[in-house]
Amino acid sequence: MFTVINDKNTKLFSSIKENASVIANNVLLVNWKAYPLQMNYESFCIFVNNLQQWLTPTAYRLTLGLNLLKNESIPEFSSIVDAFEHNIDDESGDGDIERSHAKLFIDSCETISQVLYGKSLQLSKSQLNIETINLHKHSIYLFNSNTYRMLGASVAQETHALPQLENLYAGLCKIRNQFNDNEWFKATEFYDIHLDGTEARHAEDLNKTIWKIIDNEERMNEFRKGSQELLFLLNNYWSKLNIAVSAQHV
Ligand SMILES: [Fe+2]
Ligand SMILES: [Fe+2]
Repeated sequence: MFTVINDKNTKLFSSIKENASVIANNVLLVNWKAYPLQMNYESFCIFVNNLQQWLTPTAYRLTLGLNLLKNESIPEFSSIVDAFEHNIDDESGDGDIERSHAKLFIDSCETISQVLYGKSLQLSKSQLNIETINLHKHSIYLFNSNTYRMLGASVAQETHALPQLENLYAGLCKIRNQFNDNEWFKATEFYDIHLDGTEARHAEDLNKTIWKIIDNEERMNEFRKGSQELLFLLNNYWSKLNIAVSAQHV
C-alpha cells in the first residue's frame, strides 16, 4: 500500500515537472536562447517588464503560503515550513535587500540593456499584458487559498523555475563576447545563485516533504488543481508575451 502511494506521488511530481518544463521551453524563451540579438530595445523592455511582474513577487507568494502552513499548526507540517522558510531566505538574499533575487534580476536586466542598447531600461506598468496581470493576481490568490492547492501551485512554480532560468541564462551566454568581465558578473549573478543547485533544491525540498500530508483524495484533488491552474496561467502568460515581444521586431 505504502509503495503504491509513493509511486503515485513520484508520478504526479514527474508529470508536473514535465508539464512545467514544456511551458518553460516556450517559443519566446527558445527564441531568446537561440537568437538573443533578435530582441531590440523596445521588445527587451516589454520582455523585462512582464518577467519582473512574475518573478519579483516570488518571496511574497511564498510568504503567503508559509502563513497558510503555519495556521495548520500540525507537527507533520514542520518540515514543509522549513522548506518554505529556506526558500524565502534565498529569495530575500538572507535579509540583505541588495542581494534579494528581485533586485539581482533587475540589476542583471539593466546591465544587459546598457551593454546591448546603450540605454537604461524603461520600467512601466503600461507594458504589462493582461495575461501577466492575471498570472500575478491569480497566483497570489492560489498561494493564499487552500493549503493543498497552494502546495500544488508551489510545486508548479518551483519546477517551472529551473528550465525558465536555464533558458534565460543560455540566451545570455550566446552574447558573452559583448560584455566585459565586470558587466558579465553583474549580468549573470542572478543566474549563478540559482543554477548552482539552489533552484533544483527548491523543488526537491517540496518533493521530499509534502507527500506525507497529501494523504487523501480530497487533498490530492486540491493539490492537482493548484498545480494545473498555475501552469495554465503560465502558459497563457508566455504565449501572450511572445506575441507582444514579436510585434516589436522589424
Ligand atoms: Fe530566486
Ligand atoms: Fe525557486
